[in-house]
Amino acid sequence: MKSFKIDIAFINRKSEMAGLRNYLEGRPNSILFLYGPKSSGKTTLMYRLFEQIEKEKGYEINFLNLRKVFLTSYDDFIDAFFKSAVDNNGMKTGIRRQYSLFGLFKLDAFTERMLKKRQEDPFLVMEREFQRLQKKNIRPVIIIDEFHKLDGLYMPAKQKRLMVELMNFFVAMTKESHLCHVIIASSDAFFIEQVYVDSKLRKTSRFMKLDYLKKEDVVTWLGDIKKYNKVREYTLDDRQIEVIWDTVGGSAWEIYYILEELFQHSLEDIVDRMKREKVAMTADWVDHDDIDDRRNLLSKFNQNNPIDRRNLTGLRNLLGQAVKDNILYYDPVEGTYGIQGKSLELGIKGYLT
Ligand SMILES: Nc1ncnc2c1ncn2[C@@H]1O[C@H](COP(=O)(O)OP(=O)(O)O)[C@@H](O)[C@H]1O
Ligand SMILES: [Mg+2]
Repeated sequence: MKSFKIDIAFINRKSEMAGLRNYLEGRPNSILFLYGPKSSGKTTLMYRLFEQIEKEKGYEINFLNLRKVFLTSYDDFIDAFFKSAVDNNGMKTGIRRQYSLFGLFKLDAFTERMLKKRQEDPFLVMEREFQRLQKKNIRPVIIIDEFHKLDGLYMPAKQKRLMVELMNFFVAMTKESHLCHVIIASSDAFFIEQVYVDSKLRKTSRFMKLDYLKKEDVVTWLGDIKKYNKVREYTLDDRQIEVIWDTVGGSAWEIYYILEELFQHSLEDIVDRMKREKVAMTADWVDHDDIDDRRNLLSKFNQNNPIDRRNLTGLRNLLGQAVKDNILYYDPVEGTYGIQGKSLELGIKGYLT
């Protein structure tokens, strides 16, 4: 069977990348939280940053993606943070390597044993490592993706929440000791909100939102899929590009899906099917005992604009459920709710009419 492969391109993100680099160029002073809707490109952007910085002198950059890490106990955390590991599964980003946070730091066998036996404090081990690097004029950078996965883990003995302890540790390492830069990413709106409402964390953090691609980027991209994706079998005209934008907006993940389907199907068929799927998805979500409330909630989002949470009072539980089910997206920094992606907007419209 013929395989319809397209090359994965990285579109724009110049200003976002500049924002990250700007953070790294200053003295470590805060934790940077990268947040945004699912599949907006957070992981991809951080891998790109990692690849750039890795080649430069003067940095020691470590990337830990907790998405693929099995985390049910404190020992799993120690393994994930302190053992070298290379993941060969590959990622949908097309980048195959993945490092454990301190895999590159080469813990000596003694420290590793002590950590395992819980006779060594992992935070002290990290701090010592940062100090050692700083003495050599090397700037340590820590990137942790899907950080919220640490929730539910506890420190042995003290039974303190590991996620909270780690965050406090990072505050000390950035704002107080200026020892290392920390970038934390998460799509989990409730995690970001927890950080944001904690006044100490908020004051010691920067928040950067990564949204879907802008229209001009999508137009540039789809206008030259030969250049960006090595597609030779077909091209897209202005009308088709407009149809794609109207269907999925700047969601790169869904754009790739359409580009692959276009080898075999017409754009009209693909778009029709996607809409039907989203209508069905909406119907599934609405069809519960509180069906009227759910319908009502969705109809408020008919204009497609985000809604300030102060205009949605009394709906907290249902809103929470909708966010958990990836129907709505919550931006805790702006305090607004919106529909999770343009294709779902169409599904909701289709369902309600
Ligand atoms: N700037 C970009 N240009 C093109 N494709 C992108 C870009 N950013 C992300 N993607 C694609 O979008 C999809 C989702 O990206 P990902 O980084 O996993 O999102 P997130 O981590 O925010 O959930 C991936 O298939 C990725 O290849
Ligand atoms: Mg991700």
